[in-house]
Amino acid sequence: MGAAGVTDPVLTEGLARIASEIDRAFDALLPVPGDARATLFEAMRYAAIGGGKRLRPLLLTAVADMYGVQREAAVRAGIALEAIHVYSLIHDDLPCMDDDAMRHGKPTVHKAYDEATAVLAGDSLHAFAFEVLSDPATSADPFTRIELVQTLGQASGARGMAGGQMMDLVAETREFDLQTVTRLQQLKTGALLGAAVEMGAILGRVAPEGRTHLRGYARDIGLAFQIADDLIDHEGDAAVAGKAVGKDAIAGKQTFVSLLGPERAREQARMLVDQAVEHLAQHGREADLLRAVARYIVERDH
Ligand code: IPE
Ligand code: IPE
Ligand code: MG
Ligand code: MG
Ligand code: MG
Repeated sequence: MGAAGVTDPVLTEGLARIASEIDRAFDALLPVPGDARATLFEAMRYAAIGGGKRLRPLLLTAVADMYGVQREAAVRAGIALEAIHVYSLIHDDLPCMDDDAMRHGKPTVHKAYDEATAVLAGDSLHAFAFEVLSDPATSADPFTRIELVQTLGQASGARGMAGGQMMDLVAETREFDLQTVTRLQQLKTGALLGAAVEMGAILGRVAPEGRTHLRGYARDIGLAFQIADDLIDHEGDAAVAGKAVGKDAIAGKQTFVSLLGPERAREQARMLVDQAVEHLAQHGREADLLRAVARYIVERDH
């Protein structure tokens, strides 16, 4: 994957490692059957293999590593989370939502295949996530598995990502104040990023009271992440971003950038990143990757 502009070796290495692990796992877990479902599997693979930054699995495995979780288990949970993310992007790009033709520098799934296949590929990746999580290969402990399933279920649905997507659609036609836009972004983007950190902690058997600082970190980077996404839409380069830009303004979407202006939005994102890093003060070098991810989230160009 292109990690242009990334100079921190901890981050460069972390991004490259997780990218290859996730690609390999999707490849192994989604073989194309020799029957009439072949196109569905091909569309799932088209969307899931290659392309994305894999930030959610990177966060999940970074937290899991801090608590000594076996890498294979963490990568499996990362695959489940990334499957939800990829499904959300396939559906987000559909004509009934953002109507986008480009994702990860190539045609979106409904353009490369067709709308019905894109809907089904999204549905199938959604279900696949929970199939992977509930498999004993992810954790031998059924309590851990159910906690993972519950966390990802809540973060994905109406109380999380899908709820945020609904608010995002409403934001095209209604005036939202800063507080409501913050809530929208916390659900749309923050919920899955929060789940990444939480799932790493669940695998690491960190007691809920020991997760408070990690949740604070996740909340801050979640908001900073979406501000950066909105800035990329506002002033980014489509060729570098791998997706169309300038669409939020055309859609009349309320974002941090539309409400604060780009300068204050960027300032806010940087402030959130500093705050996120402060939440990690109790950790030493083992949290360096989390610190690097926080900085990358606002400095990225794609
Ligand atoms: C883009 O997320 C969609 C949002 C949630 C704003 P990413 O920027 O993490 O997507 P990829 O997978 O790396 O392209
Ligand atoms: C999409 O947000 C968020 C989810 C898919 C949950 P955006 O619509 O802003 O994402 P991009 O800009 O298309 O990647
Ligand atoms: Mg959208
Ligand atoms: Mg979109
Ligand atoms: Mg966007």
